[in-house]
Amino acid sequence: MGILLAGLLLFSAGCDNIFEYSPYKAGVRVPYSDLNLKALKVLEEQSREAFAPFSVGVFGDTHTYYDDFEEQVARFNKQDSLAFIAHMGDLTLSGIYREFIWYRKISSKLKHPLLTLIGNHDYLSNGEFMYEEMFGPSNFTLVYNNCLFVFMDDIIWEKNVQDPDFAWLESVLEGSEHYKYRFVLAHIPPWSAPFSKGNEYYYNMLMEKYGVDLSLHGHTHSYTYGQPYENGPPYFTSSSSKRREIFYLDVKEDGFEIRKEDI
Ligand SMILES: [Fe+2]
Repeated sequence: MGILLAGLLLFSAGCDNIFEYSPYKAGVRVPYSDLNLKALKVLEEQSREAFAPFSVGVFGDTHTYYDDFEEQVARFNKQDSLAFIAHMGDLTLSGIYREFIWYRKISSKLKHPLLTLIGNHDYLSNGEFMYEEMFGPSNFTLVYNNCLFVFMDDIIWEKNVQDPDFAWLESVLEGSEHYKYRFVLAHIPPWSAPFSKGNEYYYNMLMEKYGVDLSLHGHTHSYTYGQPYENGPPYFTSSSSKRREIFYLDVKEDGFEIRKEDI
């Protein structure tokens, strides 16, 4: 027994850090940091106090459809007057380092500021750590020309079946009535399987309670626009890059419009 204990002590003394490394830990340093935070800073400086019409480019679920993704970037670059571009999440397929780098390589060619949401695929392989390092917090807001944009991380299954952070969502919507329009962007639409029935109801209830004008999503890989619930706002879902479509949200004095462009 004494020999066994002495052996164990000797073994552990030589391996102080034996449990500090896990092959599942994404402790890789990415060469880019805080890209969303930097874009938000640019947009805050560009934004006007009072409302003025503007357009936002929208796409998402680029995954590993790199040829199509490049075409989408080229098409957005043909537009001179976009305020910014929103990526609706799933910038990777497997959440691995190389895919984050490829995403950056292609998206860095965009001439407009880019805000990137997190998608469920980006959580795989502990990819959320790379996302946070590369872009910043996964929940964030922007006020642009007196319009509120709420970017929400609503991933569930890949986050150990955690409910979306509705308390945070409510905290940013509370008292936001004075904005001309309020838009919420989140990767998964509430009717999609990761949402429980209760969460689906709750999400739309918050949209209705705070008078959100439009709820924008990705995840489904196909374009939809409509009013799926009796009450609450219209909902939009963007397609995947493979469909070779891009979208615009035109925000005008007398309303807003979603426009689809085939490439
Ligand atoms: Fe996807």
